[in-house]
Amino acid sequence: MQITVCGGGNGAHTLAGLMSAQPGLRVQVYSPFRDEVEQWQAGVTDRGGITVVSAAGTLLGRPHRISHTPAAVIPGSQLVLLSLPAFAHSSMLSAIAPHLDDGAWVGGLPARGGLDWRARNALGKHGKSAVIFGLQTLPWACRIRHYGQEVAILGTKATVDLAAWPSAYAPQIATLLGDLLGVPTSCVSNFLSLTLAGTGQIIHPGVMYGLFGDWDGGPYAEAPLFYHSIGDKTAAILQHLTDEVQSLCRALENRFPALDLSAVRPLHEWLCRSYGDAISDPSSLQSSFVTNQGYAGLRAPMCLTADGLVPDFLSRYLAEDIPYGLVVIRGVAELVGLSLPTVDEVITWAQRRIGKEYLVHGQLKGRDLDASGVPQRYNINTLEALVLQYL
Ligand code: NAI
Repeated sequence: MQITVCGGGNGAHTLAGLMSAQPGLRVQVYSPFRDEVEQWQAGVTDRGGITVVSAAGTLLGRPHRISHTPAAVIPGSQLVLLSLPAFAHSSMLSAIAPHLDDGAWVGGLPARGGLDWRARNALGKHGKSAVIFGLQTLPWACRIRHYGQEVAILGTKATVDLAAWPSAYAPQIATLLGDLLGVPTSCVSNFLSLTLAGTGQIIHPGVMYGLFGDWDGGPYAEAPLFYHSIGDKTAAILQHLTDEVQSLCRALENRFPALDLSAVRPLHEWLCRSYGDAISDPSSLQSSFVTNQGYAGLRAPMCLTADGLVPDFLSRYLAEDIPYGLVVIRGVAELVGLSLPTVDEVITWAQRRIGKEYLVHGQLKGRDLDASGVPQRYNINTLEALVLQYL
């Protein structure tokens, strides 16, 4: 089987390393960035492959080919895996679309808000018919240690959810991915579940707001722990965000009783299900973060400026999870006619920090909406147009 991993970051290193260590798979890598490809090729040549270090041991995988040219790696690939921030999905899909084999399975690990809309839009322009799928989250917390050489898996989810379009393909894809990645993968009934269930879109902006919402501009002596410093105030913000997403799901299900959104789990339940025994005290949302070994040592994104160490608001925790996370949720809520006050509060704070505008006086009409994942961007302007595609 030929598999191409698209991306050059933490997830792509983990996927390429793990799968190319297995016999019988021809694993390739595509990144549009020449410098990344050259670094990766040099690393693989120098070290004999990509080392994946995890609690289970160490593996050495060697991708068959690493290229910045989609024509060199996409044709003939039965499985194409996108592992990169959501803001890069559309450009990546447009780059690979002309080279895709008809019927290829193209998936996002993770999917992030509205991947199915983005994929159908980008592939449709090239008249391509692919099976589209996505995971609700990346199966690992992982970080590159040496680019093109070594990646560390810090934690592995106990189970991950998968959706596909057309949905009849979901069981086959879940079985294949479960085997390839060694992580139990369950099917959910529709892609809307993944869009609403993304937990990064709650956790990342919610924790950034909790940590830095009152920041006075002064430098930090060291980067705060991102997850393990979550206190009562941040936990309350996260609880409000997850409650509002649940209220959105109930409103959708009330209007469309055949719509199954049971896979959109409250955050505390998702944490316990995903991390299992890695959490030593699962008694509350807050304790499930701070006693979760999968999150140990992970720090807030910071950058060193002339003023010292300051929060990096342009990191993907806001740059990805606002336009392709909370703003997408907000777009769905707009179609339902439901207000989400904490989602609005976090977007309003974050959009100033990243220099974007999605909400204007509480209305979804900011100038940067066209660079977000809202359904309205794909001409989904009514609740029926949104939901009927999933029934
Ligand atoms: P990353 O930040 O390491 O990915 C960066 C890579 O994305 C770049 O190296 C480049 O190859 C690619 N990229 C960036 N901009 C691009 C563009 N405009 N066009 C094409 N490619 C571009 O991201 P990472 O850590 O691999 O995460 C991938 C996804 O998984 C993200 O959605 C992230 O939020 C999610 N995730 C990551 C986790 C982790 O532990 N790394 C945990 C849970 C979710």
